[in-house]
Amino acid sequence: MKALEVRIRKARKSDVDRIIDIERSWQHLSHWSIDSYYRLLNDDGLISSFVAETETDKERIGIVGFVIFHIAADVSEIYNIAVEAAHARSGIGYQLMTAAVEESGRRRARKVILEVRKSNSPAINFYRKFEFKITGERKSYYSNPIEDAYIMELDISD
Ligand SMILES: CC(C)(COP(=O)(O)OP(=O)(O)OC[C@H]1O[C@@H](n2cnc3c(N)ncnc32)[C@H](O)[C@@H]1OP(=O)(O)O)[C@@H](O)C(=O)NCCC(=O)NCCS
Repeated sequence: MKALEVRIRKARKSDVDRIIDIERSWQHLSHWSIDSYYRLLNDDGLISSFVAETETDKERIGIVGFVIFHIAADVSEIYNIAVEAAHARSGIGYQLMTAAVEESGRRRARKVILEVRKSNSPAINFYRKFEFKITGERKSYYSNPIEDAYIMELDISD
């Protein structure tokens, strides 16, 4: 299927409501508090976040996905990535993750890491597409329901 064309741009504080809607469109995701999103988007330091915008109904431009990541020293950590459920599997996640990986490289990160629920096979497949590898696990990392996480890493050192 042809990927849905989106524009990737830096997230702004005014995007938080849409970001939360998209996150809440997925039942299995651990939901963050509204304050956490505002804190992240207010942090002008090492936290980065991008949104994907496209023409939605009635030719309005709307946000259909987001990625939030944090670069510390030479490690970039993906905190959260989600695409609105109605637009999943149209290449939007791929474009968001590509933007995050490229920005991480520009800011001298040598690897990108993330945690994912062991049962989240769609996301694990998605990360594998970028050649992330499982490098470890964290016991009972998630709550509601309690579940282990895989740690996945992508080497971007060259
Ligand atoms: C994971 C997620 C971000 C992927 O975004 P997306 O826009 O749906 O993914 P894309 O269309 O860009 O897919 C890229 C590739 O990832 C893999 N992939 C994506 N969704 C998949 C699924 N449901 N099952 C299997 N593989 C999948 C495929 O290899 C796909 O390539 P293909 O379509 O050419 O086969 C999205 O499904 C999502 O928001 N999920 C819920 C939130 C979530 O679980 N986030 C991760 C938290 S750790």
